[in-house]
Amino acid sequence: MQIHTVHTLTELRAALRQHPRWALVPTMGNLHAGHLGLIARARQENVPVVASIFVNRLQFGPNEDFDRYPRTLQRDTELLAEVGSTLLFAPDEAEMYPQPQTFRVLPDPALSGILDGAARPGHFEGVATVVMKLFQMVQPAYAVFGKKDYQQLLLIRRMVEQFALPVTIIGLDTVRAEDGLALSSRNGYLTPEERAQAPQLQAALHALAAEARSATAAEQLHQMEQQAMTRLAQHGWTPDYITLRRRADLLPLTAQDLHQGTPAVVLGAARLGRTRLIDNVEC
Ligand code: PAF
Repeated sequence: MQIHTVHTLTELRAALRQHPRWALVPTMGNLHAGHLGLIARARQENVPVVASIFVNRLQFGPNEDFDRYPRTLQRDTELLAEVGSTLLFAPDEAEMYPQPQTFRVLPDPALSGILDGAARPGHFEGVATVVMKLFQMVQPAYAVFGKKDYQQLLLIRRMVEQFALPVTIIGLDTVRAEDGLALSSRNGYLTPEERAQAPQLQAALHALAAEARSATAAEQLHQMEQQAMTRLAQHGWTPDYITLRRRADLLPLTAQDLHQGTPAVVLGAARLGRTRLIDNVEC
């Protein structure tokens, strides 16, 4: 299929005028089967799909992997054409941030300051700001995000609700390799030995999800989480967190939540060598 690539906002707006409604799939490129699943899901809405590729400096900390983040535009364009994306918006930094982006979206710290937000200060402000900007540029009817970035998805849903943005957010289940590893552009950083070990993160989350069903008190749950992190550390990982949270707000479960079976999710983030991986399992 033909894909039309644009790099500027003027070109983007001209291309968007060809159809009344669009679905947006925002990405940072280096596309894998997970991203292609997002495009396929977007196409189910029977509107043309615009994918964006932009490695957003605002969401990277000073010691993070902004510079080495893989940029593979040629291959990404071919993949997007294959899966039937109509339009690709690939701005450079000067186009996305022609002036320093001094106006920002400040997410609720109760959500943006925990878990990945605690480990990566400023990360979610950067994400919310660029997603808001992409929504303004594209004005999509739908936008599709993966559940691998569970906290990001919840934060974007809240932002859309609170700013009454006219876009329907669709969350899609994580796509995994055969051995269970969640697909991620950062998997490419892993050495072959690390790659073989990487499914241990998902296994740890599943183990905690199974074990946590027997917990009746928050303190007991906390001990299970600590043990899960210790076991992972014994295999050479450096965990940031492994924790059971309520799906609705990512806060810890109370004894009452445990008793009532409140919908929950086990979330984990851990470093293996130089690579930080995240994953989650709903339970
Ligand atoms: O999930 C991502 O790839 C990024 O955080 C996003 C949503 C494209 C914003 O830069």
